[in-house]
Formats: sequence, structure tokens, C-alpha cells
Amino acid sequence: MNSSEGFVAIFDSGLGGLTIMREIMDLLPYEHLLYFGDMARVPYGGRSQKAIVRYAKENVRFLMQKPLKCLVIACHTVSAYALQELSQEFSLPILGVIEPTVLEVVKNNQARHILILGTSATIASNIYPNLILKKRPEMKISSIAAPLFVPFVEEGLVNHLAAKLIVQEYLKELKEPIDLALLGCTHYPLMKAPIQKVLGSQVSLMDAGPLTAKATQQLLSSRGELAGPQKRKLSFFVTDHREKFCKLASLFLGHGIDPKDVQEVEIASL
Ligand code: DGL
Repeated sequence: MNSSEGFVAIFDSGLGGLTIMREIMDLLPYEHLLYFGDMARVPYGGRSQKAIVRYAKENVRFLMQKPLKCLVIACHTVSAYALQELSQEFSLPILGVIEPTVLEVVKNNQARHILILGTSATIASNIYPNLILKKRPEMKISSIAAPLFVPFVEEGLVNHLAAKLIVQEYLKELKEPIDLALLGCTHYPLMKAPIQKVLGSQVSLMDAGPLTAKATQQLLSSRGELAGPQKRKLSFFVTDHREKFCKLASLFLGHGIDPKDVQEVEIASL
């Protein structure tokens, strides 16, 4: 793939992956970026492994028609359940959000007790504790599914008292102090303020976005495919709710998008 023509594709179940795209946009200012959000079937976080893998494959089949340099699975739930199968089926470099984040956690010598927050599916997969404990068996890990954070973010309620109450409710099962909380869902970086308030300022929050952007940069650089100075193209595809996507995109991306760049597409067997 010509390094100045191909796109870096970013796939998510809906809008949340725009928090990952935001970091990739900042770190790789010349890359053409193509975002795909499965707005028709979001949220994936309460679905079975079978459904998550099927949806992911259908979406990636669509993406494979585009000129891609690599694919970033921005969704933690899809990274947890489908990354391996996608890598086996599709011949393009694919990276997820979990591995770069785990690599950073295991480097942290100060952290003894880690909290993993994620969707119900991500937490049920146990992927984070399994990968972390393989490298650092002495670490203590607590996992909590926090599915309600997703609608709170999408409703713009992160600064509402209700957001703090819901964080308190989810975290009340934590019996011992923690050192590090891993935000294992695309939406959770936007819940940082209430999470930090409840956990206290001594707890560090780890966000997969910058780590995934760095991993994307390393991947492209190792393949000699980093784009040189050029005006980048941005392209967005959604499977439904184009207007909602355009309206809420700035919440996740930090700036608005041009609706002309957003197309609604039909995916086979959707
Ligand atoms: N993108 C999902 C994740 O990071 C959150 C939204 C959903 O449940 O689909 O796990």
C-alpha cells in the first residue's frame, strides 16, 4: 500500500471509538483516517461472543473494499472477543486496544492493585486480568462491569450529580484501595472526572487512546508506511443514525466533523 494514499481504518461498535481516533489524529497528523461505527447494532457490550465476532467480521468485510494500510479495533469489547479471528481471516495488519494497554500496565512497578472497568462482555472475557497476570502474577486485580457509563456519556451527563452516584454505586464493591484504574471501554475516558472524584486523586487512570495511537504509529513505521506531510482525508461510515453520529461526534473527538464526510452504509446480513 502506498504510504501516502492508504487509510488507517478505525472500527468501533458506535461513537466511542472516536476517543481513540482523536488520539490517532493528534499523533499522526498526515494519515488519512477512515472511521466505521456500527450505529445500527451498538452497544456490543451486552452481546454474546458469537454475535460480536459475526458483527465484527461483517463490518471488516466491508472495510476490506477500501484502500487500507491497517485496521485499528478501537472497541475494547471487539478487541476482547474478535481480534484473533479477524487477524486470521483478513490479510491486513490489525491491532486492538487491549495489548498496548496491557503492555503499559505491566511496566508499572508502583501499581499493586489494579481496577479494570469495562462493558459486561469485556469484563466477562477476563482478557485484561489474564494478560496482565501472565506477566505480573503478583498484581492484584479487581474487575467491575460499568455498562451504564455508556449512556451517561452519550446523554452528556458526565458532570451531573447522577454520574457521580452511578460511579459510587459501581465502585462500592471495591473493598481495598487501588493504585491504578484501567478505563477499559471507549466511553470511559469521558467519565474521568466523576471516576477520579470517587476514587481519589492518588489513583492513576489509564486511558487506552494515547497507547493505541502510539502502537499504530509504531506499526506503520515498522512497515515503512508512515505518511509524509500532506493534507489528510477523513472519512466516516455508519450503519445507522447518521444525524446522531454527526451531532455527538464532537463530544468524543473534541471538534466537530463535516457531515459531508459521513456516509450511511448497508452491511450484508445486518
Ligand atoms: N465500544 C464499546 C467498548 O469499548 C462500548 C460501547 C458498546 O458496548 O458497544 O467496549
